[in-house]
Amino acid sequence: MERSFPEGFLWGAAGSAHQTEGNNVASDLWALENRPGTFIAERSADACDSYHRWAEDLDIVRELGFNSYRFSIEWARVEPVEERFSRAALAHYRRVIDGCLERGITPVVTLHHFTSPLWFQQDGGWLSGAAVARFRRYVRAVAPILGGVEWVCTINEPNLLAMVANLMRKDTRTEGVAGAMPPPDEDLADALAAAHLAAREELAGLKSGWTIANQNFEAAGGAQAASDAWAWPREDRFLEVAKDDDFIGVQAYTRVRVGEDGALPVPEGAHRTLTGWEFYPAALGNAVRYTAARLPGVPILVTENGIATAEDTERVEYTRGALAGLREAMAEGADVRGYLHWSLLDNYEWGSYTPTFGLVSVDRETFRRTVKPSARWLGEIARTGRLG
Ligand code: NOJ
Repeated sequence: MERSFPEGFLWGAAGSAHQTEGNNVASDLWALENRPGTFIAERSADACDSYHRWAEDLDIVRELGFNSYRFSIEWARVEPVEERFSRAALAHYRRVIDGCLERGITPVVTLHHFTSPLWFQQDGGWLSGAAVARFRRYVRAVAPILGGVEWVCTINEPNLLAMVANLMRKDTRTEGVAGAMPPPDEDLADALAAAHLAAREELAGLKSGWTIANQNFEAAGGAQAASDAWAWPREDRFLEVAKDDDFIGVQAYTRVRVGEDGALPVPEGAHRTLTGWEFYPAALGNAVRYTAARLPGVPILVTENGIATAEDTERVEYTRGALAGLREAMAEGADVRGYLHWSLLDNYEWGSYTPTFGLVSVDRETFRRTVKPSARWLGEIARTGRLG
């Protein structure tokens, strides 16, 4: 039987530090989660204890037949106090990288996945005039441990980060991805773009890029102009920053329909997932096409795609549809280098452990990992390159 995906394609799963490691005590989010009266429903606490159990996680990745794993380095651990770098934390992440290489796993390393050190946030965060220099200094400290790493993501979902920070300042709430979606803060967006370009300079010689929350905006009722205007500040301007990058990370889960007056709520009666998002596997192929059209010549890595569900068969159904769409987009010419499923583990979904995205479940008391059937199913595709 013919392969559906090329030889050498990266197949794997992803996670991030704050969501998996546990006890990220020097970070801004930890402070928010543990503040008396916080609006955050559930604390990250021990997460999946991956700071200690990373080798077990990598063994699972390998046993499933994947050849890649995406994780993030936590700035708050590496630089818990301004300009005081932790040699032990850097050595820890070097061990994780070596752990990947020893197992034949290609690491995809993210340098900033939503959380920042508390000192950074308290001193103006990304809006401080010193933010770009601070991020550059952090990247410079990390660069020496990245030997042998081919894929480095500088900042995860800058478009979402710029939007969420704005929402948090106004102390409003969002419901899923649709509905209240203010445009990202302009100054934040500019600062993140500048930080990305500074990081790229520090990472010369490595493949670097950033990863976008692809919203798969869809014009509803002929509102094409409104949809395009909506997409520009929320997605396109962030894609444009990547025009000279070594790759672009596509992260797609669902679609957002846009009418004349902005984003529309998920239609009544639509099939929804545990995050409240519409079950919409075609989002991935569409997002890849959209990205390929805007960034010709920039290789694409699917750095996230998955579904929050308690029904593992639904995960298989969703992922099968997403991969079929991906294969189609590739047949039409999109230069896609790999697919990393979100996520390896049932991890901390920013305020709650209830939306389970994992291919592997984690006991909340013992941290015992249990591989789900969907993981074996995806591992088989990874090993054969064939989507039945
Ligand atoms: C995007 C984020 O990068 C990740 O941290 C999050 O868990 C998933 N999407 C699912 O919401």
